[in-house]
Amino acid sequence: MPTRRTRRTTSSAKPLLTARTADKHRLYQVAVQHPPAEIDFVTHWFQKLTGRHARRLCEDFCGTGHTACEFVRRHKDNVAEGLDLHSPTLAWGRRHNLAKLTPEQQQRIALLQRNVLHPRGADKAFDVILAMNFSYWIFKTRDALRAYFAAVRAALARDGVFFLDTWGGWECMKEMKDRRRCAGGFTYIWDQHRYDPLTGDLTCHIHFEFKRGPAMKRAFTYHWRLWTVPELKELLAEAGFRRTTVYWETENAHGNGTGVFLPRKHGLADASFVAYLSAEK
Ligand SMILES: C[S@@+](CC[C@H](N)C(=O)[O-])C[C@H]1O[C@@H](n2cnc3c(N)ncnc32)[C@H](O)[C@@H]1O
Repeated sequence: MPTRRTRRTTSSAKPLLTARTADKHRLYQVAVQHPPAEIDFVTHWFQKLTGRHARRLCEDFCGTGHTACEFVRRHKDNVAEGLDLHSPTLAWGRRHNLAKLTPEQQQRIALLQRNVLHPRGADKAFDVILAMNFSYWIFKTRDALRAYFAAVRAALARDGVFFLDTWGGWECMKEMKDRRRCAGGFTYIWDQHRYDPLTGDLTCHIHFEFKRGPAMKRAFTYHWRLWTVPELKELLAEAGFRRTTVYWETENAHGNGTGVFLPRKHGLADASFVAYLSAEK
C-alpha cells in the first residue's frame, strides 16, 4: 500500500529474521495496518454524523480481520463481522487475531468466507461498513463498483455509514518502488509495477526484505483499477448514498501529515495522498 504521509507507530513483530521464518500476514499487519487509528477515525466520525455510537460493524475484504478485532475490543456492546473470499487468510486471522481476544469478545465477532457483492441478509443493518486499503479497487468497471456500493448500502442501518479509503496524486500513475524500514527488522517494499493509462489498470506487489537472506518477493499482488475521488463520489451517489464527505489529512508547519483527517471540499495536487470517504445511507 502507498505509504501514508504520517509515520505510523508500528508494533514490533519478532522473530522476523528471514524470508523462510517470517509470516507474510504478520509482516503485512505490521507494515500496512494500524487498526487503532482506523477505529478511532471511524467511531469519531460515525458519532459526529449520526449523534450515536457505532455498535455493529462489518469489515469488507477483512483479510485477517485485524480491524474488526480492534472494534470488538473497544466496547462490550460492539459486534463485528468480517467478509473475505480467501479462506486461508481468514483461518490465519482466527488463529492469530481472534485468538488474542477474550472468550467473551470472540462471541461478538465472526469472520465469514463471503463475496462482498452478495446480499448480506435482511437482519444485518450495520452501523458501519468498512472497505479499507483500497480493496474495492478490484472492481474495474463503473457498473461493478456501483453494484458493490449498492450492496453495501443495502446492508446498512437506516442511518448507517460506509467508510472507505482512497489513494491518489500523480505518483500513483508512476511505475516505481517505495521502500520503508519497519519495526521488527524488515523492509517493506511497495512496488507499483505496471500502470496502463488507457485502461486505468494498476498492478502492485508487496515484497519484504530482511537483514539476512533472500527477499520475500510478491508476498501480495493486487490487480486494481485506479479510481479517482470524483469518480468515487459520483458512483456512491448513483448507488443511492445521500451524502459523501472526503477527509483530507492535515499538515504540520513542516508540511508533514499529522494523522488527523478533516472534511474538505478541495485538496492539494500532492505527489501521493491517502484520504478517507464517508458515505451516508
Ligand atoms: C488488500 S487485501 C485486505 C485488506 C484489508 N482490508 C486491509 O485493510 O488491509 C484484499 C482482500 O480482499 C479479498 N477479496 C477480494 N475480492 C473479494 C470479494 N469479492 N469479496 C470478499 N473479499 C474479497 C481478498 O481475498 C483479500 O484478502
